[in-house]
Amino acid sequence: MRPDDVEGAYRVARGVLFARGPGEDEDRLRERQLRRIGHLLQTDAGGAWVADRDDEVVGVAQALLREGLWGLSLYAVEASEQGRGLGRRLLEAALRYGARARGHIVLSTEQPAAMRRYSRAGLDLRPCVAAAGIADLRAVPDEAARVQDAGAAGIPLADALGRAIRGAGHGPDLPWFLQNGARLLVFEERAFAMLAANGKVVLLAAHDDGAARVVLWAAIAAAGPGATVAFDFLTADQQWAIRVALDANLALSPDGPIFTRGQVGPLRPYLPSGPFL
Ligand SMILES: CC(C)(COP(=O)(O)OP(=O)(O)OC[C@H]1O[C@@H](n2cnc3c(N)ncnc32)[C@H](O)[C@@H]1OP(=O)(O)O)[C@@H](O)C(=O)NCCC(=O)NCCS
Repeated sequence: MRPDDVEGAYRVARGVLFARGPGEDEDRLRERQLRRIGHLLQTDAGGAWVADRDDEVVGVAQALLREGLWGLSLYAVEASEQGRGLGRRLLEAALRYGARARGHIVLSTEQPAAMRRYSRAGLDLRPCVAAAGIADLRAVPDEAARVQDAGAAGIPLADALGRAIRGAGHGPDLPWFLQNGARLLVFEERAFAMLAANGKVVLLAAHDDGAARVVLWAAIAAAGPGATVAFDFLTADQQWAIRVALDANLALSPDGPIFTRGQVGPLRPYLPSGPFL
């Protein structure tokens, strides 16, 4: 992928993958996703691949490497080109970027073709559910009042907690979140949550389930009364988050699975980031 492919990669992903968030218009979605694709092209040029036909981008795969952990950030093939092996070749190219990685993570959609590709690449499937709704805030625990909106000062803690639960910090992706409107909430030295402007908890890691529960409740409350909140990719290891979701009266629904291979750490307590894992 070159910088002038970013627009085409967005167009392909908009056709088959990207959806507008609650209350988000088309221009905002476009700006948000162009910034995300552009950011990773800068940090991980070797993991960014496109397929083209007649100089038009028809497929994209973008992977990142953080401290020995490989993650797939973006993967899409134009609908009319699917099922002919382009996706396989794009994924192989992205995986070569992580050939020496100790672990691999993918957050999959529920698409049969996507799940087949990841499994065929030797990754193991971990089923997931997602939580969303307008939260009932009556069960917010008292400790949530001690959670702080730390801004950039919370980045070293967030990086350290990411390292503890998946063996790799999120490095340059943490400031990216803050530059793009997210809030970084921290609880003591034990937990952090990244809350996007649209009420979605886009990343969370903690030292223990109790601290994870407190920071998740604080994030739900910080979204404001009546706001739609959401967090997804809850594996069976995140029972603490499933309980918070139900206590907040959010609805659970099936989600795409997480795929992993190699040494990825305990991955708990953890709510991963779609683009940055
Ligand atoms: C996932 C995606 C990128 C794969 O690209 P692709 O070009 O279709 O991939 P390929 O043709 O190389 O492989 C698709 C595989 O799925 C299989 N497949 C396709 N449709 C299927 C279906 N409905 N049920 C089961 N298998 C299916 C194909 O037979 C092929 O398997 P094979 O190579 O073992 O025969 C593409 O389908 C896509 O853009 N999907 C929508 C976006 C998405 O969900 N992206 C994943 C983000 S995590």
